[in-house]
Amino acid sequence: MSRFQDRVVIVTGAARGLGRDYARYFARDGANVVLADVKGTESAAEEASAEGGQRCIGVEADVTDRASTDAMVAAARDAFGRLDVLVNNAGLWRGLNEAGLLECPDEIWDAAWAVNVTGSLRCYQSAVPLMREGGFGRVINISSMAARSGSNPYGLTKNAVEHMTRGMAREVGGDGITVNCIAPGISAFEAAQSQLTNADQVVAGNAIKRMGTSADLYEAMVYLCSEQASWVTGETFHIDGGAGAH
Ligand SMILES: NC(=O)c1ccc[n+]([C@@H]2O[C@H](COP(=O)([O-])OP(=O)(O)OC[C@H]3O[C@@H](n4cnc5c(N)ncnc54)[C@H](O)[C@@H]3O)[C@@H](O)[C@H]2O)c1
Repeated sequence: MSRFQDRVVIVTGAARGLGRDYARYFARDGANVVLADVKGTESAAEEASAEGGQRCIGVEADVTDRASTDAMVAAARDAFGRLDVLVNNAGLWRGLNEAGLLECPDEIWDAAWAVNVTGSLRCYQSAVPLMREGGFGRVINISSMAARSGSNPYGLTKNAVEHMTRGMAREVGGDGITVNCIAPGISAFEAAQSQLTNADQVVAGNAIKRMGTSADLYEAMVYLCSEQASWVTGETFHIDGGAGAH
């Protein structure tokens, strides 16, 4: 059965990494997908289209810029006439895990808040009116296991995303729209492998001693985006191999 047959999904940060895989999986499950990224999304959109036989389009969008996120949602409306799911996946964690608070360079701090927090907000603001028209919506914000740490600048942005998820959920709960958050543990991806010098140590701290995969994270998303999860909102789901199970 196609779990998202004819649903319309926007995935941000879909040019590479986890977002690229989410887009492919949604297409495989029957959705029409808008792949949004600051970088070229052409090859990712072709890959997603090939996967599911659905129509997938790539749009250039900077999530920090409201005009750009409005244009992203307009592209979904023009191509498919509706919007069911927004996955706020675009994120920055370059240099942030190691930065600490005392020495964290301004440009890294500002860019992370702009993309991870403001970017998720802008996409939500742009997407909700079109979801409201359809009387159905699922917003998935993306946090991180790092949100548990108060000394990690990246984790602080993700903690704000989790908190904002609760506010968003309350705002749109009466419109058939749920807003939830997935907090992944370290996942086997280019960015994780190149940026975490202590990946083995992090995995050793998990209850299940392997890195996560995009499929592990996607299956949690499938539930949260389903009709069956219509009474689940404002929650953060830690999909992290038991990293926080102490
Ligand atoms: N990979 C992991 O282990 C892991 C763990 C926890 C959380 N996460 C979160 O999952 C998400 C994806 O992570 P990833 O490892 O695939 O990262 P990644 O760096 O490989 O991909 C992020 C994508 O976001 C895009 N992006 C950056 N700024 C943007 C902007 N202003 N507008 C639009 N797109 C923008 C980038 O171009 C890139 O394609 C991020 O939010 C990250 O914080 C990842």
